[in-house]
Amino acid sequence: MNVLPKSCVRETGKDLLVFAYEDREPKHLMHLFKDSTANIADAIDTKFGAVTALPLLNKTPLQTVYVVGAGKFDEVTSAKARVLFAKGFRAAKKDVLVAFKFFEGVCEKQYARLATETFYLATYQIPQFKKEVKEEKRELYIMGNADNLDEIIADAKLNAQIVCEARKYGNYPANLFFPRDFVALVKDFVTSDAAKAAKVECTILDKEGLKKIGAGAILGVNQGSHNEPYMALLKYNGAGDAPYTALVGKGICFDSGGYSLKTGPHMRGMKMDKCGAINSFHAFKAVAEKKLAVNIMAVLPMTENLIGGGAQRVDDIVVSLSGKTIEIGNTDAEGRLILCDAITYAQQQGAKKLIDMATLTGAVGMALSEEYTGSFTNNQDMLNKLHKAASEVDEKIWQLPMDEVFTEAMKSSKLADLCNISSLGSAGASTAAAFLQEFVEEDVAWIHLDIAGSGMRSKDGAYHREGASGSMIRTLIQYFENEANN
Ligand code: BES
Ligand code: MN
Ligand code: ZN
Repeated sequence: MNVLPKSCVRETGKDLLVFAYEDREPKHLMHLFKDSTANIADAIDTKFGAVTALPLLNKTPLQTVYVVGAGKFDEVTSAKARVLFAKGFRAAKKDVLVAFKFFEGVCEKQYARLATETFYLATYQIPQFKKEVKEEKRELYIMGNADNLDEIIADAKLNAQIVCEARKYGNYPANLFFPRDFVALVKDFVTSDAAKAAKVECTILDKEGLKKIGAGAILGVNQGSHNEPYMALLKYNGAGDAPYTALVGKGICFDSGGYSLKTGPHMRGMKMDKCGAINSFHAFKAVAEKKLAVNIMAVLPMTENLIGGGAQRVDDIVVSLSGKTIEIGNTDAEGRLILCDAITYAQQQGAKKLIDMATLTGAVGMALSEEYTGSFTNNQDMLNKLHKAASEVDEKIWQLPMDEVFTEAMKSSKLADLCNISSLGSAGASTAAAFLQEFVEEDVAWIHLDIAGSGMRSKDGAYHREGASGSMIRTLIQYFENEANN
C-alpha cells in the first residue's frame, strides 16, 4: 500500500520531498520548519533542479526534507515535473513521502502518477553480477485527498515496473540470455495468473517450425549461431472481433555483424540488440495484465547474429517468408531480415495494424541523438495517435520520411527482389524503413519505430541509467489505453 492516510507528516518517520519555486514564497514549508532556527527561505535553492536537504529538528528518527528547486511555477510542465521528482528521489536515501499538502496548486492525480512512475524509473538499478551485490530497496509513499489515489498509484507503479523489467532483460549479457532464455521468459508470463486471467494465447515456432513455414530470412541470420532461433506469437483478445494490432520486435540477442563483422567499439552494447522485442513483449504484458479493451498480438523473432562455420555470406540470396527474395549485401543489416519475416507472419495471423520496434540503424542516432525515437509510417492518422500518446507520457519521438526514392534504393539487386542494403550513401534509417515497408500489405496500417538511439543509452539520464532504457513501452501502453477508451 503506497497511500498513507491523512496524518501528520512528521509522524510517518519518512523523508519528505517538496518543490520550492523561484517566484513563490515557500509559505507551505515554513509550517514544516516552524521549530527550526534557520531562515528556511534563505537556505533553499529554488533554481530548477537544485536539491537542498534540510533536517527536520526535534524528531526521532531523524527526518530529512528534500527541497527540489522548481524554477518558475507556471513553467513547470509534466516533462519538467518528472525531472524534478527524479532529482529528489535520487538525492534521498530512504523511503520517501510525497505529501500533497505541500504542493500548492497542482493536480493531485496527475502529480501522483508523475511521482510514482518517476520514482520507480529513477531508482531502477542495473542488474549486478558482482560477487557482492548491493541492492537498495526503497518505497514511495503518497499522502493526498483526491479520490482513487491508490488506483492511480498502483497503475503508475505497474507501468514503471514493467519498464524496469524490460530494462533488466535488455541489459542481460548475451551468454546469460540466449533466444531459448527469452522463450522461457515468454512462457513464464503465459503461465502466470495474470496471463491466464487475460486468456493470453501463445505459439512458439522453433527452428523446425520456422523451416516449415519458410521463414528463410530469419533462418539465414541464424546460420552462424549454435543457438536455436525462435519466433514467439502472443495473442490477447480484449475487444471481441475487432482487428488485431501486432507489436513486432527485433530480438537479436547479440549482433556481431556476422561476416560483415563489427569492429571492437561498435560491437560493445550489442547484447541490447534485442530491445525491440523485449520492449514489445513488455508493452504486450502490460496491456494484457490491465485487460485493456483492445486486440493485440506480439510477434517476437529471436536469434543471434554470429560468425560460426555455417554463417550466412555476403552475396547470399535468401527466400523470405513472403516469397520475395533478398540479396545479402551486408550481414550486419540483419534486423530488417528477421523483421520482414515477422511482419509477414503477423499479417498471416490476421493483424491489420502493425507497430514494429527495433534497434535498427546507427543512422537514426546520428540524425536524432539518443533523446528521440525515430518514427516512420504508411498511415499518418495512426502515427499521429502514437505521437499523441508519446507526448502524454513525455517520451520524445520524431517522424522521419518515407519516399519512393528510398524504396528504389533497396531494389538495386540484379538477382533478387530486394537487397538488404541501400544503393544510397545516406538516409540509412529511412532506407531501412523502406525495406520493411515492402513486406507490409496495402490495407495494413504500419508504424516503424527505430529505437537504436533511444533504446540503448550511453549515459545516465534524469530517470534512466546507462544501457537499456525501455523506451516506447509507456507510449505503447498509453496508445492502447487511448484506443480502448475510444
Ligand atoms: N543493431 C545494429 C544497429 C545499431 C547500431 C544499434 C548502433 C545501436 C547502435 C544493426 O543491426 C546494424 O548493424 N545496422 C547497420 C546497417 C547497415 C549495415 C546498413 C548500421 O546501422 O550500420
Ligand atoms: Mn547489425
Ligand atoms: Zn542489429
